Amino acid sequence: MADVMSTADLQTSLRAALGDDRVLADAVEMLRFCRDWHGDVTSSAVAVLRPRSTEEVAAAVRACRDLGLSIVPQGGNTGLVLGGIPDHPENQVVLSLERMSAIRNIDADDFSAVVEAGCILSELKDRIAEKDMYFPLALGAQGSCRIGGNVSTNAGGINVLRYGMTRELVLGLEVVLPDGTIFNGLSTLRKDNRGIDLKQLFIGAEGTLGIITAVSIKLMPFPDQVATALLGLNSLDDAIKLYRRARRDCCDLMSAFEFMPPLAFVLAREAIPDLPMPISGDYPAYVLMEISGSGLVDIADLMERFLGGVMEDGLVVDGVIAASQAQARNLWLFREGMNEGQAKRGPHMRTDISVPLSRLADFVRDAEQAVSEALPDCISVSYGHVGDGNVHLNVLPPSGSPPDEAAAKIYKAKTVVNQVLDGYKGSISAEHGIGRLKRADFEERLDPSRRALLTALKQAIDPSMVMNPGCQLNSPDIS
Ligand code: FAD
Ligand code: LAC
Ligand code: ZN
Repeated sequence: MADVMSTADLQTSLRAALGDDRVLADAVEMLRFCRDWHGDVTSSAVAVLRPRSTEEVAAAVRACRDLGLSIVPQGGNTGLVLGGIPDHPENQVVLSLERMSAIRNIDADDFSAVVEAGCILSELKDRIAEKDMYFPLALGAQGSCRIGGNVSTNAGGINVLRYGMTRELVLGLEVVLPDGTIFNGLSTLRKDNRGIDLKQLFIGAEGTLGIITAVSIKLMPFPDQVATALLGLNSLDDAIKLYRRARRDCCDLMSAFEFMPPLAFVLAREAIPDLPMPISGDYPAYVLMEISGSGLVDIADLMERFLGGVMEDGLVVDGVIAASQAQARNLWLFREGMNEGQAKRGPHMRTDISVPLSRLADFVRDAEQAVSEALPDCISVSYGHVGDGNVHLNVLPPSGSPPDEAAAKIYKAKTVVNQVLDGYKGSISAEHGIGRLKRADFEERLDPSRRALLTALKQAIDPSMVMNPGCQLNSPDIS
């Protein structure tokens, strides 16, 4: 068992059970699996397991259970809440899905595909596009994150307002359960009401109930017409008015509506220095908007007529419409580069908040005001998926702050923002999940009946606590 075996003995046993090639135990080689995307936390593990098939995942689960080891599943390791980073390196392994990246089937007639959990999201989208089909999940990390991770976090991203969260794009799942058995729910049926929909248990579970090994997903026709515009506005309030108007005027063809503050351009250019400035004036608020479609619609005309109307009414002060795919890509780089720009400035407080859309502007105003009163030398930066009522309200300590001071400010900022959020009855996790980073804040706010249900579920599916203990809920709560 783990508490009587040395790490070296555990590694030897894992190699004997799974084969040398499937077990990584070198500290340097394990590092990239044990450090989070921002580099805020560096951990380690007994080993990193790298199976090549569902049966090998099942064998790995059984071996870990027999050795008393628990498992932290990992996809692309782009998660932002430490759900995929071990916190008890002495008795945890990372199980990486990166070698399971096959596309098992793309069926254009059925509008579905079956893919292994380790497929990188952007590669998956490219392969599907080759068949003139489209998988609409889109996020800044799509060049690294993997579909099993997307499903396990129920990822959001920029297209949610039209296509929904990942949950709404999943038709079926194959999962290795904590006892090593395989749940085969890889159906591609659109409608299936035969009792409780068990796949939903694993979507957003962050690896606490089993290991997703394959996913069947919904596909759409490829949107061959896309219009992208960057708009300058007077306020976040106007951005929300604009969103409501666009929902009505753009015939459900709007696929993205992202809010950015003026600081977005500074941050993005700190990460990508050569990025050309897309708009000449300075405005208090910006919206990056996309309309897209396929078939017998005229998307360019729709965008032009829509912008003509809202500029005439003064809701939009200035704007550019991308004239080419390359220009559209540049506009998106401002939005995507914001995360990297903030990361470059060092440790900072990140949130992932949702409130009702009608209260979003008030919430941002109140929370930013509370932060500036409590932490006058810090900068608030609020941006994100306004159409979903989801804002990333982050707080940056002064550059070069000593680590202890920065950590104290980050803690204070989180407390202040969460206090304002509680007044708005919002969510501390709109899309990134709970992981280990938000566990305490989640548990503090957990309704007793929901806690009881979550605990009962965990006990029923994972009584030995093999799967990702300490993620979402504190382990002792589930003993
Ligand atoms: P990982 O980080 O590897 O894992 C995430 C969680 O899922 C962990 O708890 C892990 O244990 C579990 N897990 C992973 N794979 C499996 C599996 N096969 N079976 C069971 N459990 C598993 N998120 C958004 O929602 N919207 C965004 O717009 C967005 N933008 C981002 C931009 C950047 C620059 C970055 C760095 C991150 C962003 N994220 C965003 C967060 C992150 O990309 C998503 O959470 C993504 O879905 C994680 O996928 P992954 O493969 O990297 O998962
Ligand atoms: C984004 C990530 C942080 O929206 O969720 O950029
Ligand atoms: Zn986001």
